[in-house]
This record gives sequence, structure tokens and C-alpha cells, in this order.
Amino acid sequence: MKIGVPKEIKNNENRVGLTPAGVFELVKNRHQVYIQATAGEGSGFFDADYIAAGAVILSSIEEVYAGSEMIVKVKEPIAQEYPLIREGQVVFTYFHFASSEDLTLAMLKSRAVCIAYETVEEADGSLPLLIPMSEVAGRMAIQQGAKYLEKPIKGRGVLLGGVPGVPPGKVLILGAGTVGIQAAKMAAGLGAHVTILDINMKRLRYVNDIMPSHVVTEFSGEYNIRKHIRTHDLIIGGVLIPGAKAPSLITRDMLGEMRPGTVLVDVAVDQGGCIETTRPTTHEDPTYIIDDVVHYCVANMPGAVPYTSTVALTNVTLPYVLQLAEKGWEKACAQRPALARGLNIVHGDLVYRGIAEAFGWNAIA
Ligand SMILES: NC(=O)c1ccc[n+]([C@@H]2O[C@H](COP(=O)([O-])OP(=O)(O)OC[C@H]3O[C@@H](n4cnc5c(N)ncnc54)[C@H](O)[C@@H]3O)[C@@H](O)[C@H]2O)c1
Repeated sequence: MKIGVPKEIKNNENRVGLTPAGVFELVKNRHQVYIQATAGEGSGFFDADYIAAGAVILSSIEEVYAGSEMIVKVKEPIAQEYPLIREGQVVFTYFHFASSEDLTLAMLKSRAVCIAYETVEEADGSLPLLIPMSEVAGRMAIQQGAKYLEKPIKGRGVLLGGVPGVPPGKVLILGAGTVGIQAAKMAAGLGAHVTILDINMKRLRYVNDIMPSHVVTEFSGEYNIRKHIRTHDLIIGGVLIPGAKAPSLITRDMLGEMRPGTVLVDVAVDQGGCIETTRPTTHEDPTYIIDDVVHYCVANMPGAVPYTSTVALTNVTLPYVLQLAEKGWEKACAQRPALARGLNIVHGDLVYRGIAEAFGWNAIA
């Protein structure tokens, strides 16, 4: 199959759809891979690396789309790319259709086959192509939180690990899912005292089994949250209720109970945030302060570490890319139900119920 990787053109997106290692595997399996010139540079992969792995470099995005049966990307296509996508072409990327009616209509019109990373779903309900980004964001949350606790950026002036004779900082984590556990691991590694809350006892048992004793689990509820926000230096929001807005576990009035310079990192910002005062921020201007409490609410945290994020993402997408290339989308989806759940739009038909519901449309194919 002819597979194309365009350069991402969405603002500040430095990731790329395939690494040279992924190209190497595809070429080894007798596929042709076209990479747009400089597509990998933002992630630290250069044209020479791709050529050495067997790719052909094309100079323009038009050539990549025109010459490829399947496009492998990271972000949803933007308006400039809509006319380049054609009937029958497979596009495998994050789409997040429910958040853009324009994109949905454009892809319906294109009659392409749109397979969305975010809805590829295993039988146990896990979302294998979302997990790596939560892992990145969870680990980054502590790195960022530790930085914003420093006094020059209005934090409490606390070193998370403490030093001999000074107790470590305290980290409160809301949610013991992928984000929460990765954050707990990083915070514990720095020597911080960690409290992690969840409403799912299975998750709390798991955390309790695998984490060192300075990571303490508690059941999540307003009483415990109010108790801990008074004494914790860094608070991480990592809750998720699938398909719904995150619950506001920290309300505006609670900010007054925190000590000045407390840092909130609301990773759940992309689902509306689990802190009432959360509003999305960017890497250019990541924080704002309300009532002396520092808020960090960047909606695409993995974008700041494109090398790690690209490799983590392509580690999990490559097996699917290989299957799609080997078998074609119809056979690959028929044989792998997880991949079939990634089908969102096929030849002008909307085939994913959640998207129709998001727009109040009646029917799906
Ligand atoms: N900002 C970013 O760049 C970025 C990157 C990746 C993921 N995210 C977001 O981070 C959030 C968490 O993702 P995840 O992969 O860890 O989800 P997950 O499903 O693995 O974990 C969510 C956890 O929240 C728990 N939870 C639900 N209600 C709760 C409550 N009231 N109190 C405490 N815990 C509660 C669940 O039981 C679950 O264990 C999602 O909104 C995700 O979209 C953001």
C-alpha cells in the first residue's frame, strides 16, 4: 500500500504520524511510504533518517495526499487539508469529530474512510490510542507542577522532594486512572508525599498494592477533598467520566481554603476540567492566578514534548497501520473489532453513533 505522512500544520503541533522506525517496518513489509519534507523535524526526526529507513520524501502536502492510499497523521485535518482528501482514501488520525461539525461535514463530503484514533476501543472498554497521551500528561503534570511551585512564578516556594531536615512537599491527585497513576509515580519518585483519591475501589486497591508507602489512597468525596486542599502544595486533576464533562470537584469557594501559592494542574481541562475555575490555556501562556492559587490548564500537554509523544503514539498506532496496509481497511476492521470501533465516517456515511448524538442528528448508517 502507498502510505503518506503529511507535515502537521495545526498551530504548534510538532508531532508526526510515523517515526523512521515505523517507516522501516512498513517498508520491510513491502509498502511504500511518502513523507512530506521536514514533517518529522519538530519531533527530532530528519528527512535523512526517513530516507535511510526507506521512505520517499515529497516536497509538498498536495503530493503526499495525491499519491497515498492511506494517510497517517496525528491531528484532525484542518480546512486547508479538506480539499486534498479524496473518495476512498483511508485517513487514520485523531479526529475528535464530536467537537467540530465543520470537520464532520467536510469528511462526509470527501467520501473518505476516517478511522479515529480516539475511538479505537478494546473489548474491555480501554482506548489504546489515548492511553500513551494520558501517560505523558500524567508524568508531565508533576514536572510542570514542581516548576510552578517555585516562588519566581508565584508558587509557594516549595521543593517537592524537601531536603534533609525539611519535610517533602505534598501532592494531592484526583483520579487514580492513567493520568493519576503516572503522576503519582513521578511525585513519589521525587520524594513527595502523595495522596491519591478515586471513587473506584479497584483503582485504589491497585495503587495501594504497587506504590510505595508514602503514596496514600483515600476515597474521593467533598469531605476528603476539602480536608486535603488545605495542606497540599500541588493538586493534580486527573478524573474522567467517559463521554461526560468532568465533575467540578474543586469549587471556586475552595480556593480560599488553600494556602497562597498552591498550584493546580487540571489535566482534565480537555473534558471541561475538574476545577470550577479551570479555563483552557496554551503552552505560550500556560498559567493564570485566581485568589493567589496558580492554575495550569494546558489542553494539549503532550505537545510540549513532541519527541516522547510521537514515539509513544506511534508505538501503539503502528500495529494498526501495519494491519490496515496489509489487509485493506475492510478486512482489517472485520478481523479486529477494536479497529472497527475506530471507523467514524465511511464513504460519505456517519457510522459512529456518539457523533450523530453530539450534533443532535437523527440517523447514522
Ligand atoms: N490536558 C492534556 O493534555 C491531557 C492529555 C491526556 C489526557 N487528558 C485528560 O485527562 C483526563 C484523565 O484521563 P485518564 O486517561 O487518566 O482517564 P482514566 O479513565 O484512566 O482515569 C480517570 C479516573 O477518574 C476517576 N474518577 C471519576 N470520578 C471521580 C471522582 N469524582 N473523584 C475521583 N476520581 C474520579 C475514575 O474512577 C478513573 O479512575 C481525561 O479528561 C483526559 O482526556 C488531558
